[in-house]
Amino acid sequence: MSAKQTKKKSAETAVKEEKKIAAKLIPIYIMGKRYEVPEGLTIMKAMEYAGYILIRGCGCRGGTCGACGTVYRKPGDYKLQVALACQKTVEPDMYIAQIPFFPANRALYDFAKLTAAPEEVFKLYPEMFRCVACNSCTKACPQGIEVMDAISALKQGNIAEAARLSFDCIQCGLCTSRCFGELAQYHMFQLARRIYGARIVPRAEHLSEMVKAVDEGKYDRFLDELKQVKEDELKKLYQEREAEPMTAGEDWKPKDTTYL
Ligand code: SF4
Ligand code: SF4
Ligand code: FES
Repeated sequence: MSAKQTKKKSAETAVKEEKKIAAKLIPIYIMGKRYEVPEGLTIMKAMEYAGYILIRGCGCRGGTCGACGTVYRKPGDYKLQVALACQKTVEPDMYIAQIPFFPANRALYDFAKLTAAPEEVFKLYPEMFRCVACNSCTKACPQGIEVMDAISALKQGNIAEAARLSFDCIQCGLCTSRCFGELAQYHMFQLARRIYGARIVPRAEHLSEMVKAVDEGKYDRFLDELKQVKEDELKKLYQEREAEPMTAGEDWKPKDTTYL
């Protein structure tokens, strides 16, 4: 094939590709305005394709920061849906609006004064008793959290269970946006997890022992020695250290116990 023919063929391929891409465009509505965007994009990428520059309502892009709460409705469907814009892919004719921040009551408290008594949480968030057990929050949660059950646990004074159930909460606020009782579930869960971590979960004894040893200067000499080592040598020491195997038991120790 001559150079001219090759060039013509690539031009034809490019035109075909362009047509293929054009064929994949689907209509969506962002804040009520129609756009054509490639199918398969997430709502977030589709918004950017449509020309939006996201400086709010966009964080990790990986479904973990909770910044991109979005509400949408599909044609002919009475139901208002919620999703994370960075996770949900666009569908033809969906109407989309972002709610990157949902105003929600957050109680003020001096955490040092909280003792883990359930009554303290009741007092800070009395609206939890407005829950009508509709379960809309659970259906809205992109993390699959049993939101209503976690609220029930809190109402029963079971802070540990509320903390356990809400462990994967990313604070997106979508549960709150759908709540009949006007609860800010995610702020309540955050308080539950704080109390659980600081007041309920048993202290790790080995950690206290280690902190005591550090305070008593057990490692001072070793640290001073390491501070004298040149950077390259330090890197070598680090790279060649005996690493703990993935399957090591609690009693694992390195062969060289110099620094223990
Ligand atoms: S519990 Fe609420 S705030 Fe937390 S991830 Fe689920 S919907 Fe988002
Ligand atoms: S949406 Fe609100 S009222 Fe309904 S179950 Fe959840 S917390 Fe209760
Ligand atoms: S951008 Fe972080 S959850 Fe979507």
